[in-house]
Amino acid sequence: MVTERSTELTPKSCRSLDFGLEISLRVHILEIHLSPFFIIFSHWYDSFPPTLPTLPTLPTLLLMKPVVTVRNLNHAFGKGELRKPVLSDVSLDIYQGEIVILTGPSGSGKTTLLTLIGALRSIQSGSLKVLGQELYGARKKQLVEVRRHIGFIFQAHNLLGSLTAQQNVGMSLRLQQNISVAERSAKSASILAAVGMSDRLDYYPENLSGGQKQRIAIARALVSEPQLLLADEPTAALDSKSGRDVVEIMQQLAQEQGCAILLVTHDNRILDIADRILHMEDGCLARDTALRS
Ligand SMILES: Nc1ncnc2c1ncn2[C@@H]1O[C@H](COP(=O)(O)OP(=O)(O)OP(=O)(O)O)[C@@H](O)[C@H]1O
Ligand SMILES: [Mg+2]
Repeated sequence: MVTERSTELTPKSCRSLDFGLEISLRVHILEIHLSPFFIIFSHWYDSFPPTLPTLPTLPTLLLMKPVVTVRNLNHAFGKGELRKPVLSDVSLDIYQGEIVILTGPSGSGKTTLLTLIGALRSIQSGSLKVLGQELYGARKKQLVEVRRHIGFIFQAHNLLGSLTAQQNVGMSLRLQQNISVAERSAKSASILAAVGMSDRLDYYPENLSGGQKQRIAIARALVSEPQLLLADEPTAALDSKSGRDVVEIMQQLAQEQGCAILLVTHDNRILDIADRILHMEDGCLARDTALRS
């Protein structure tokens, strides 16, 4: 069925189309042909409990790779009688280029989940793959390697006070081999310009506002072009205008780089930037809502 329709796109009829357009046409045709089966499958899938990850759209399935795959993840703090379960049976997928917002009440396990995905904690049970690497049972060296492909932004910007804006951003590139000091400084200046800070390259953090410091933190997280950006309440310390600016910069740069974003927030005013919203309650993934397909 698909082959038959695809042959209608002969070289002659496609002569004026560029390769990208042809690919998107073929995907569209495939989507039309398969949509009845897909709808039936979606209804069947939706009948399962909400802890299952949201079913990606067909183009997503065809074109995107998961950057993060979590299955039946459990985590607890403490030992013996003091043991306290914090995450229970969490499963989710995050695809290349997706912006996923993670919400939920205080103490529901958002930061714990984020730090596990960021390879900053050991996995106790379940499976967690980042960029195809299984983190359960992974060695320290493998965790360090995974972290090299992840950018982190926290509520507190964590900039080094003794370094200028440009030097703080340049620190991120020090882990990369084969990059000269001159290249490092040029790349840092260029990404600082992209976040609107080109006139503050030589400023120290103490002489910058909260919003400006957070822009530098974004530049630092994205300068090495990570495939995944993890942000934990990056707008919490900012007024609403600066908060909005900061997430829009994050969204734009990540889109340009094809980087997936997982962003924890309590800030309802920025929910619209998400492709998908995950909601946590008591350590469980209670809802997984797609806003855009
Ligand atoms: N290092 C730790 N040792 C012991 N318990 C911890 C530790 N870190 C977090 N917890 C507990 O795990 C639970 C989940 O914490 P977590 O920080 O993941 O929540 P959160 O959803 O990020 O909350 P918030 O919105 O307030 O940041 C909380 O009850 C917290 O007290
Ligand atoms: Mg938290």
